Amino acid sequence: MWRAAARGSRLWGLLALLCGAAAAAAAPAPPLAAPLLCNVSLDSPAEERWLPVLRHFDPAFLRAAVAWIIDERVPKWVHEVIRPVAVELEFLMPQPFAGEILGMCKALGISLGDGVLLNFAYESTAFCTSIVAQDDKGNIYHGRNLDYDFVDILSKITIDVQFIKGGQVAYQGTTFLGYVGLWTGESPHKFTISGDERVGGRWWENAIAAFLNRNYPVSWLVRDTLSRAEDFQSAVLRLAGIPIIAEVYYIVGGVSPKEGMVITRNRRGPADLWPLDPLGGAWFRVETNYDHWTTPPPFDDRRTPAIKALNATGQHNINFDTLFKVLSVKPVLNNNTVYTTVMSAALPNRYQTWIRTDT
Ligand SMILES: *[C@@H]1O[C@H](CO)[C@@H](O)[C@H](O)[C@H]1NC(C)=O
Ligand SMILES: *[C@@H]1O[C@H](CO)[C@@H](O)[C@H](O)[C@H]1NC(C)=O
Ligand SMILES: *[C@@H]1O[C@H](CO)[C@@H](O)[C@H](O)[C@H]1NC(C)=O
Repeated sequence: MWRAAARGSRLWGLLALLCGAAAAAAAPAPPLAAPLLCNVSLDSPAEERWLPVLRHFDPAFLRAAVAWIIDERVPKWVHEVIRPVAVELEFLMPQPFAGEILGMCKALGISLGDGVLLNFAYESTAFCTSIVAQDDKGNIYHGRNLDYDFVDILSKITIDVQFIKGGQVAYQGTTFLGYVGLWTGESPHKFTISGDERVGGRWWENAIAAFLNRNYPVSWLVRDTLSRAEDFQSAVLRLAGIPIIAEVYYIVGGVSPKEGMVITRNRRGPADLWPLDPLGGAWFRVETNYDHWTTPPPFDDRRTPAIKALNATGQHNINFDTLFKVLSVKPVLNNNTVYTTVMSAALPNRYQTWIRTDT
């Protein structure tokens, strides 16, 4: 939500920069646009591999966006904790994340502390809807909306990334430039993952403590799993078991019938595993930002409209297009929706993200 008509002036500065950057494109954006598709080479050193992607963007705009997002999103005491220890963070953080953040910071001329804070900014308060579904032939489809406050800025830096190893796509995902974790991704012919925030109290205190204790940010575990897990089962095991800095829902889709799961995470391990049960009639699972065994609050019920739309679609008719339509039903699609991705690990070429300028 734009909680902030009043937060005006710096934002206007940033938007003016944005418009300057897009001066050539005077026409209004088309209602649906695919994000920039980038290759990031895992065969290049971590510090260098994002540099070709950065070249597509105006550095002045990126610096302003980073400063603005950190300022708006990260509490001041976290700045004070993280900035002084940035040098040590380089050694505390696992690779390739540390090297990638460092490389981008150097290229943009921002401090490593700010690069780390940026990567935290998106870890908190991403409201989302994820759906995993099985059609009546046993094909698995997975879709997600990513909802976040700063739609106007984030829609400009949303990118689809193919991570290339030995000339092949090792895995791919959707992210915001500068953010090395993934909330949405696919390991071709193996599995798909999306993450939805699980709101817990004292998020920042717990997350920073756990991070300094070397737990992974939740989106780093997604990327780590995409790069390492061999199949749906091993992806579920990793996503359920490895300690992370905050609570989250991981939604996983596979390539064979019944391979669909919502994992409700505590920081230390799984709170609940909720698989598809197509034989029992549960051919889809919907996860927003509330435990599936509870009722969502009436002021933010995106679950019921999604279930209604899936019921109306029917198992026989679920596919990439109809799943996209379900994710376009209001309020599943809302003013904070930055992008929609639909994917199916068995059909990796059909991975598709749309920037939602049509809300
Ligand atoms: C990305 O890499 C793949 C695999 O090497 C290649 O086929 C594709 O053309 C590249 N795409 C871009 C946008 O560079
Ligand atoms: C969806 O369909 C199931 C099975 O028919 C039914 O139990 C459920 O109440 C429906 N939910 C909504 C929100 O329409
Ligand atoms: C979303 O934005 C539209 C157009 O600005 C507005 O009419 C609508 O009330 C907003 N919806 C919500 C849920 O805030």
